[in-house]
Amino acid sequence: MHTLTDLREVTITETAVELYYAFQAKVLIRSPQEGTVQVQFLKVTDWSEEVPEPSYSVLLKEFLPLQAEERENEITVSIPKGRAVISKVPFGIRFFNETGREVTRSADTAAYQFDGWKSRISFQFSGDERIYGLGESDLNQDDVRLNHRGTIRPIWNKHLPSPSRLMIPVIYSSEGYGLFVDNPWVARFDFGVEKEDIWFYEAEGGTITYYLFLGQELKDLVSQYVELTGRPEIPPLWTFGYLQSKFGYKSRQEVEELAETFRQKRIPCDSIILDLYWFKKMGDMCFDRIAFPQPEKMIAGLRGKGFHPIVIEEPYVTKESRLFPEGDRIKVFAKKQNGETYLFPFWAGESALVDFTDPLAKQWWADQHKELIEMGIEGWWTDLNEPEVHFPDMVHHDGPAQKVHNIFALEMHKSLALAHEQNCPERRLFIMSRSGWAGSQRYGVGVWSGDVESTWTDLKKQLSVALSMSLVGLPLWNSDIGGFKGNEPSPELYVRWIQFGAFTPIMRPHGAHQNREPWAFGEETEKIVKNFIEWRYRFLPYIYSCAFETYRTGIPYMRPMVMEVPEDLNCTEICDQFFFGSNLLVAPVLEEGATTRKVYLPEGLWYDVWTWQSVEGGRTIEADAPLDRIPIYAKAGSIIPTLPVMKHTEERSWDEMTIIVYPGWNGEFLLYEDDGKTTAYKRGEYRTTLFSQKNLDDKIIVNIGAGTGFYPEQVEQRTYHILIPGVTASEVRMNGKPVHSTKQEEGCLAFTLEDQSVKCEINVEIVIK
Ligand code: NOJ
Repeated sequence: MHTLTDLREVTITETAVELYYAFQAKVLIRSPQEGTVQVQFLKVTDWSEEVPEPSYSVLLKEFLPLQAEERENEITVSIPKGRAVISKVPFGIRFFNETGREVTRSADTAAYQFDGWKSRISFQFSGDERIYGLGESDLNQDDVRLNHRGTIRPIWNKHLPSPSRLMIPVIYSSEGYGLFVDNPWVARFDFGVEKEDIWFYEAEGGTITYYLFLGQELKDLVSQYVELTGRPEIPPLWTFGYLQSKFGYKSRQEVEELAETFRQKRIPCDSIILDLYWFKKMGDMCFDRIAFPQPEKMIAGLRGKGFHPIVIEEPYVTKESRLFPEGDRIKVFAKKQNGETYLFPFWAGESALVDFTDPLAKQWWADQHKELIEMGIEGWWTDLNEPEVHFPDMVHHDGPAQKVHNIFALEMHKSLALAHEQNCPERRLFIMSRSGWAGSQRYGVGVWSGDVESTWTDLKKQLSVALSMSLVGLPLWNSDIGGFKGNEPSPELYVRWIQFGAFTPIMRPHGAHQNREPWAFGEETEKIVKNFIEWRYRFLPYIYSCAFETYRTGIPYMRPMVMEVPEDLNCTEICDQFFFGSNLLVAPVLEEGATTRKVYLPEGLWYDVWTWQSVEGGRTIEADAPLDRIPIYAKAGSIIPTLPVMKHTEERSWDEMTIIVYPGWNGEFLLYEDDGKTTAYKRGEYRTTLFSQKNLDDKIIVNIGAGTGFYPEQVEQRTYHILIPGVTASEVRMNGKPVHSTKQEEGCLAFTLEDQSVKCEINVEIVIK
């Protein structure tokens, strides 16, 4: 492989340092945003006219002015929050953070190598450096974990053999940097397997452009990555309710009976998801009107009852489907070398693959959604879009399979975004997708982990997969609750998966040819499951406020311990418990038969959310975990807004809330509210309310700030029930006046502030007995 040793020219401009080497290689160093350095390696044929390939993922930005200082063999490039020091011959680069500490350096052997199509960047590991990120590892392997050091990670989306691998080339190091390689080609990372002290990334084609993020904390690094590739959109509020799925519901009658059962049993539910029985042939993109007569009526009926229907779609169009002749005629499918449609045998029948890299195909596919949108379908389930089968000799608009494979799902998402833009621009897009790529988060995408097995082993692996996925900009993750394939889950496994699923961003059971409804596993199970579903609805304001934080910062819903408590070295590899939002520590039960489990509580005071008991942290405890509950702890200082239970998310407005104030530490919570359905929040149509608590020796001061912002139909008055565990008060005053409704309830101080205007600040003083 060539290396960069023969330097011919250096150019320094206001925003770039450019180095030209023999073998027609050019290195460009720029900074697109605070803390981020872009390093681009171009193989050029004509230096002065080189145009790099446009990015599929990175949002176009202007580059920041740089300060570059050249000295003998070195150029120091200073950017806000750090600097890069380049050695010219041979080419090498070191990165320093704002305190002046070196956080990483390119490998001494070679920073960059290239040969024909291939290129490689290599870095030196330092000490016990840990590597996080990347997304969903191959669940079939044993080394599914948070820290990827010592593994090889292929960058090639796949689902055969199932379940999913969805790896995005973005990593975060414990040394205080992150790195995203913006190259869609098939590639791999080697984290110290070939050489123990070196990690490298090697792509089979394309140019290498990488972004190096400087920042000590994982939260900061993830935010920089999201700033670069796009913010995770806020999904419609209903997606945080309970979504019912299975493979699959086969008729209108079955769907309507199902909806009715939910309402009769008063088990909250917001969506019924239709798997591939809604159409006759894959690629029809219309209802099978025999199994689903008058689907318009069915959908209107469901929506009237508060259900938001989601339908599945695939990028494959079978030869016998309604749309094949047109697609073939206008040439929207991937082709053979001779330009004809590439047909291949597939489990759904002989098929063609929609070439989503082609703008014409994107538009054609978007058009197929018009009628469904008009009918009232509100969510899209893009299955098989790795794509599941893909052939090396297929020709696509944007190039060979090796190049377009990884971005295929992203281009499909863009097609659905087009459908919304053209038919319902105000409605939020929600796509549940099996695959994706850097940038999919801009299109309302949540991914699920594919066809996992109904086993304890696969349940366990979901946690590290979820937590890694959360770090790569696609935090709206979920798994098939109950598992997808294999034997039917035992009631116990189903319950434990439900309990975990209640603390993932989307709560959705699913399974192949088996029932997954809350009542399918007997009465005792139903009771427990109902309780956890109700939990989702009660904690809706907490979850939705977290969605706002994720939208603003990229900080995910599910957070590895190391993200919330980076200073605690006990947390670096923990992936069997996690934070859901910044306040709740969740420890799902992952062992068959277990009725207790070990939970590591970081320093500080914690509250068991079931018993209200406080526990001192800084140690591992053995927590109770009978079948009907999993250990969940709230940090002292947390303030959690909750709602009364409801049948579905739109049943009631948020005019009554129970605010749980966990005392013992000062803390804040920012409540977020908007209309829950439209994209108006992006124009600033939302309201936030800051809750805070201050703990003094003899009193607690709880403050509810005046609501900031406005959106149509917002609640103007609200009744607050305040709950403070572990506190007995001698007196409670609101804005100086005594509150008479105080009582002690199961170890909590409770009182109500009736019909408060959301425009006014409320100050409550609780004098402790
Ligand atoms: C594969 C998907 O992963 C699964 O969730 C779905 O049920 C089946 N395809 C059938 O559509």
